[in-house]
Amino acid sequence: MSASEDLEELPGVGPATAEKLRDNGFDNYQGIAVASPGELSNTADIGESSAADIINAAREAADIGGFESGTTVLERRQEIGKLSWGVEEVDEMLGGGVETQSITEVYGEFGSGKSQVTHQLSVNVQLPREHGGLEGSTIFIDSEDTFRPERIEDMLFGLDDEILEDTMVLHGIVEEGEADAGDEQLQEALLEAVLDKIHVAKAFNSNHQILLAEKAQEIASKTQDEEFPVRLLCVDSLTAHFRAEYVGRGELAQRQQKLNKHLHDLMRVGDLNNTAVVITNQVASNPDSFFGDPTQPIGGNILGHTSTFRMYLRKSKADKRIVRLVDAPNLADGESVMRITGDGIIPE
Ligand code: GTP
Ligand code: MG
Repeated sequence: MSASEDLEELPGVGPATAEKLRDNGFDNYQGIAVASPGELSNTADIGESSAADIINAAREAADIGGFESGTTVLERRQEIGKLSWGVEEVDEMLGGGVETQSITEVYGEFGSGKSQVTHQLSVNVQLPREHGGLEGSTIFIDSEDTFRPERIEDMLFGLDDEILEDTMVLHGIVEEGEADAGDEQLQEALLEAVLDKIHVAKAFNSNHQILLAEKAQEIASKTQDEEFPVRLLCVDSLTAHFRAEYVGRGELAQRQQKLNKHLHDLMRVGDLNNTAVVITNQVASNPDSFFGDPTQPIGGNILGHTSTFRMYLRKSKADKRIVRLVDAPNLADGESVMRITGDGIIPE
């Protein structure tokens, strides 16, 4: 659905209009489908009614904005998975863990542990369900060059022996009863199996990041009938490139528009593939300074419409971090404590 060459198939879109649309970031059906007629009409120099026709056709083609029965919605919601954070207190606060079919925003100042959380979840998602996993794989969009396989290794072998052994069996490395957490050969095979199930892509700029999210949809949907379907999509960081590239006041609207489209794409991956979407966002610890009030949603009203969890990480003494749940639908706000150690993220 993301192929940019298809724009000309929309009613009334010739090569010139298609080019104007692409130049302004409307390079696929999804982006057009969520635009307003006024916005599109200005962008492409066409009348509002033509713009409305184009938007409707794009919606149909992208399958956005259609109705579905309450039964379908209910069926999909019954499949929601809960991914363990690795800290019981945090899981409880979240009503069981990080949800699939939702976006979870992890925000906080530098060093608060956002990247560590995405690494830990990338390990945890691969664990057996009885140990809080989703028996799935991860797509990791890395915009700050923070992904470290060595940290995945630390976190994997920081797990209890029983979990490691059950995970060896789940990944098909040994038969049940023959797993041995202390066996070096088995450990090596397990590490390789786990790293193989993290699809990492570096995003070089915001447009590239947007493309990668579209690509993520393709990869995720391909894996759904396989073993270890994609159950986690991390974007670390969601906002860094957008902030660096759209700096002036006059560019804020454009930045927000791009960010909204990007969030839509991410939400779609989550919805269509029963995948948890975890995004990170750096904010200053002092709400009055640079980035504004950290309790305000970054995605504006777009994120407000979707099912969203916001987790605020705050540094505490030494390796302790306070995790606060902010504004979650149907859940009480709360706080818990975790530690970031050599073994990864663990309870206080
Ligand atoms: P920015 O990306 O800069 O905004 O920060 P962040 O929120 O992503 O922080 P990150 O997740 O990188 O956390 C960094 C903190 O995690 C460090 O200050 C360390 O306290 C801890 N940490 C990271 N790696 C290790 C490690 O290998 N061992 C231990 N013990 N702690 C680590
Ligand atoms: Mg980071």
